[in-house]
Amino acid sequence: MKIQPAQRLDGVQVTLIRRIMAEAPPGAINLGLGQTNEPIPQPMIEAAAKAAYGSGGYALNAGFAELREKIGEWYRVDKDRVIVTVGVQEAISVVMFGLVNPGDDVLVPNPGFPVYATLARMAGGNPVEWCPTIENRFRPTWPDVEKALTPNTRLVVLASPGNPTGAVAEDDEWKRIGCELEARGIPWFSDEIYIPFQHSEHEHMSMWRHSRFGVIASGMSKTHGIAGWRLGWLIVPDELVQPFLALHQHLVTSAATIVQRAAIAGLTKEGQAAIKALSARLKEKRAIAIAALEEGGWDIVSGDGAFYLMVRHPNWSDDLALCRHLMREAGVITIPGRAFGSGGEGLLRVSYSVDVAVLKSAIGAMSAAVAEQSDADSSGK
Ligand SMILES: Cc1ncc(COP(=O)(O)O)c(C=O)c1O
Repeated sequence: MKIQPAQRLDGVQVTLIRRIMAEAPPGAINLGLGQTNEPIPQPMIEAAAKAAYGSGGYALNAGFAELREKIGEWYRVDKDRVIVTVGVQEAISVVMFGLVNPGDDVLVPNPGFPVYATLARMAGGNPVEWCPTIENRFRPTWPDVEKALTPNTRLVVLASPGNPTGAVAEDDEWKRIGCELEARGIPWFSDEIYIPFQHSEHEHMSMWRHSRFGVIASGMSKTHGIAGWRLGWLIVPDELVQPFLALHQHLVTSAATIVQRAAIAGLTKEGQAAIKALSARLKEKRAIAIAALEEGGWDIVSGDGAFYLMVRHPNWSDDLALCRHLMREAGVITIPGRAFGSGGEGLLRVSYSVDVAVLKSAIGAMSAAVAEQSDADSSGK
């Protein structure tokens, strides 16, 4: 006799991103990464080490007051609106389980981070896709969102810069999305984990500056090189603080105290300057990656922010076949666009947050591998 998992897990799998990583040959160059290759800032390591020698006791559920104050300063809100979470991933879980009722429609971006739709469904909701267009380089606009609204829409998930697209909304459009949703009484959820990494002239601010009718999530996985330490936060309107805090307590109690101490040490003036410097380095790498990819015949579809480019090659239409071909023939890992929804089909997500020499040699190998063979050649094999 076998033990059956709950029905809410029907169809739920580890993401294709993780499955591709598991398929990669040993020694492959990883342009599939969802993190930077930056070292952890020294003050954070020291603070974590010091905390490890200190008390191992529980923290307040919402997180250390000093940390919430520092996070609150950035959004210009009182610390009581801040809940420190176990990465943005937990923040997304709290939002879905804390806001979505069975049968509610939850608008999720396609292409987009796959976790939104899965968690919306687990919470009993129906994920409905809103689709930024490839013609607009996947930059979110109000008409894209408006088109997907239903009478049952309970929540709209937004992300700019987005993953996988790296697309950055223009500030006017961003503001319009927030204000139009608020006017209709539909809350938004804005995942702002990549907000410090905007590389075009069209920078936008946190959605919190435009509308308070929603919830923000962000964190330090990408900005401080601590993806594995698991530190994020929620900024919530007054009326959601207590319910969300109760849910967060029941899920995880609190974020790890050692990591919270490290986070305090990372959110200083120097820490902010370090993020700016990192963003500038990413901008340089982006320019290098674009030049090398264009030279190799790749089309750059999107990617003004985060550390991702969405690309395609005229010889290849099947993104999964192309991804596997590049792993085999070029020894380079990229992520097939379909891992992020049907809107990503035919495209690859390329992460440029690696050393410049590695980036250049990986793109050179990718370009050589596609020049030698196309979809059409490989389908006969
Ligand atoms: C858009 C987006 N949101 C959330 C996450 C998860 O972040 P965390 O490591 O803070 O859980 C990621 C990670 O790749 C992401 O790309």
